[in-house]
Amino acid sequence: MTGQEDYLWWKHGVVYQIYPRSFYDASGDGTGDLAGICAKLEYLAWLGVDAIWLSPVFDSPMRDFGYDVRNYTDIDPLFGTMEDFDRLLDEAHRRNIRVILDLVLNHTSDLHPWFIDSRLRRSGRDDWYIWADAKRGVGGTRRRPNNWRAAFGGSAWSWDTGRKQYYLHLFLPQQPDLNWRNPEVEKAMFSEARFWLEKGVDGFRLDVINYIVKDARLRSNPYRIHRTFPRRHDQQNHMYDRNQPETHSVLKRFRTMLDVYHETFTVGEIYPNEGVREPATSARYLGDGEDELHLAFDFSLLELPFSATAFRQALETWYRVLPERGWPCHVLSNHDKSRAMTRLCGGSVEKAKILATLLLTQRGTPFMYYGEEIGMQDRFMKKSELQDPLGKLYWPLFQGRDPARTPMQWETRRGGGFCAGDTVPWLPLHESLWKGCSVSEQQSDPDSLLFCYRSLLLRRRSRDELTRGNLTFLPSHPDVLAYRREYAGEASLIILNFSKYQRPCPEDGNDLTGYEIRLTES
Ligand code: GLC
Repeated sequence: MTGQEDYLWWKHGVVYQIYPRSFYDASGDGTGDLAGICAKLEYLAWLGVDAIWLSPVFDSPMRDFGYDVRNYTDIDPLFGTMEDFDRLLDEAHRRNIRVILDLVLNHTSDLHPWFIDSRLRRSGRDDWYIWADAKRGVGGTRRRPNNWRAAFGGSAWSWDTGRKQYYLHLFLPQQPDLNWRNPEVEKAMFSEARFWLEKGVDGFRLDVINYIVKDARLRSNPYRIHRTFPRRHDQQNHMYDRNQPETHSVLKRFRTMLDVYHETFTVGEIYPNEGVREPATSARYLGDGEDELHLAFDFSLLELPFSATAFRQALETWYRVLPERGWPCHVLSNHDKSRAMTRLCGGSVEKAKILATLLLTQRGTPFMYYGEEIGMQDRFMKKSELQDPLGKLYWPLFQGRDPARTPMQWETRRGGGFCAGDTVPWLPLHESLWKGCSVSEQQSDPDSLLFCYRSLLLRRRSRDELTRGNLTFLPSHPDVLAYRREYAGEASLIILNFSKYQRPCPEDGNDLTGYEIRLTES
């Protein structure tokens, strides 16, 4: 063990993502809230996480469940009040848990006063969003400025009858994109971020951060063929509506602002082209490792099958492409994707323990998604149960994101301990609740997935090599992932058998049994 002087919490700690609507309903309306999160801090401290990231809790019309912000410096009444937030921040800090907010910089709600002003060409905000004239088509018809498609369906351009111009929205029409080429926008947004930093929040997750700047000439994207998803949006190579070089300059300035505040950090959501594994794109947003984002998500890991070889290759690539001083992070589930327990494990706890061990012993900052520690699964949604605009659009081909956003399963009883039994939760609970998939059931079973997560989290705190050590992959059978972590003369050896069959152990003659996890320290 070394002293804590070089401890950087965001490098060595574990971040737990909370989808506030679904964590715990303290107010009794069927939707989770800030007071609910506060009530569960003891649990999070017991579990052993170092930070919580809250999906947006700002004032919002909720067309995209908070990712359409109307006021960046106020709390939505659905989640509580600013006093509730202050109390949460305080109570979390008292338990040494940091608080990360989710900042949406790419777009606002169409009901944000900035957009209302921009629409009406008021208060010098004409140019705060991306407005463009119609092109003239055959016979004088009106044509959109280019071929960009919205991620939530249709064209990314909507016509404004007042201005007689199109405005851009890469998501819903109610989520107009800001014009980051206008320095006033940057100034205003940075000031919103500073509001929270002054309050003492510990950092931000930056929503679709590689989208913020668009091509200055608004050129059309080239087409490409992508077979796995029905959206026309995915049949484009997003060359001109993402990843523009100016984004890096914005992030450098954001970093400079953030660095004034002690130990704060940013993690960026980076989407390269859908379905394409491009860890190098994510890595570029770390700049030289110290001048842009602190961390960037690489969603390659979310695209993998349950295979030791696939994970090894993806991890090796991720480590290889990082800048020398850059730090990796890892994630297996989030509020936009199918949960790993469903996608990769088919509900198998044995497989989930392998993934838990992998996530918490690799090099880099792990991100957990609420409920992952008890093996929550995607819930099949009937059309009438859907809330997510994406699901409503593509059901039944794609159910959208509701399946991975169901209420946390605290107790095996009606309402799941998430809300009172006679309250209707905002999304239905998963049936696995009745099969012991709840915090209370697993807390009394030392063999549970929950205990597996907890003991790994505790182990990380007592073994420096797991947080700051280097990592060497060892030669092994293709179904086995084996690696050593070393730091200051101490080492951990991690061997994971991804197969249900017996496989040779790379270290000694004792074969591994199906799905065996070997974790040894020296
Ligand atoms: C990000 C969020 C997602 C949201 C979208 C638009 O991808 O994770 O939930 O819908 O941005 O803000």
